[in-house]
Amino acid sequence: MSKLKGKVAVITGGNSGIGFGIAEALKNEGAVGAITGRNLETIEQSIGKLGAGFIGIQGDVTKMEDLERIFRDAFERFGKIDTVVVNAGGIVDGIPMAAIADVTEESYDRYMNLNLKSSYFTVQKALPYLNDGASIILIGSSAAHRAAPGMAIYGAAKSAVISFAKGLSLDLLERKIRVNTLSPGSIDTPVFGKIVPQEQVEQVKQVWKDLIPVGRMGLPSDMGKAVVFLASDDSSFIVGTEILSDGGMTNISLMK
Ligand SMILES: NC(=O)c1ccc[n+]([C@@H]2O[C@H](COP(=O)([O-])OP(=O)(O)OC[C@H]3O[C@@H](n4cnc5c(N)ncnc54)[C@H](OP(=O)(O)O)[C@@H]3O)[C@@H](O)[C@H]2O)c1
Repeated sequence: MSKLKGKVAVITGGNSGIGFGIAEALKNEGAVGAITGRNLETIEQSIGKLGAGFIGIQGDVTKMEDLERIFRDAFERFGKIDTVVVNAGGIVDGIPMAAIADVTEESYDRYMNLNLKSSYFTVQKALPYLNDGASIILIGSSAAHRAAPGMAIYGAAKSAVISFAKGLSLDLLERKIRVNTLSPGSIDTPVFGKIVPQEQVEQVKQVWKDLIPVGRMGLPSDMGKAVVFLASDDSSFIVGTEILSDGGMTNISLMK
């Protein structure tokens, strides 16, 4: 209940899915902080659920000036930042993931900007406001380890995010700032409604569920528990690595 008492966290994309589940878990362990996103309506709804202690900051993580403002505003409000969860990402609005023959240079760049470049600069823009000893948690994906249809660019971006946890931990060693990646498997979030029409969502979820050895999709709260661990002193010896939370999907085959 109080593993993170007094800690201040900033969660990008905290107004939906995994990011909101992480914000709830951090809050339940005593943290306060800020959630970010572009959609003001879902930011306000999420803040309503998180209650006092959390604020919403609107911003686009692919824009440098927005990232600078997000961390400046969070620092002005709370006076320090102990944890950053670099979660915003996934589907680019209006551009479906596709196999190579159907990818344009623009769609390639926009996927890389949202899922890779924004992760790097979220960390960079947070640095002036971070405590020494802070914990940064990058959100990767099991797609970095196992190819899925249309996900080559997304998987490559997330592979590089996993690599950032190593390189950035080295860059930040003197400040004792730890950077680790949490890679979710298939998690039940609004993202499926961005990939297929609403009437097909349950069918697509079932396809993923059938691949998961533990027999269920992951929940945002599952990701929240792992982030609480990575944000807390319980993980103080864990630096520059990845936790894969996927119900066994990557490493265990259900083949009979
Ligand atoms: N669900 C899964 O199965 C799964 C699996 C592996 C990894 N992941 C990763 O987990 C993270 C969260 O995914 P999710 O499933 O929770 O998806 P989601 O419900 O679609 O949430 C995506 C979040 O990112 C924010 N976002 C997207 N583009 C943004 C931008 N340009 N600027 C600022 N915020 C932006 C969205 O807020 P706004 O729309 O308001 O901007 C939203 O809060 C992503 O990094 C995703 O790649 C998800």
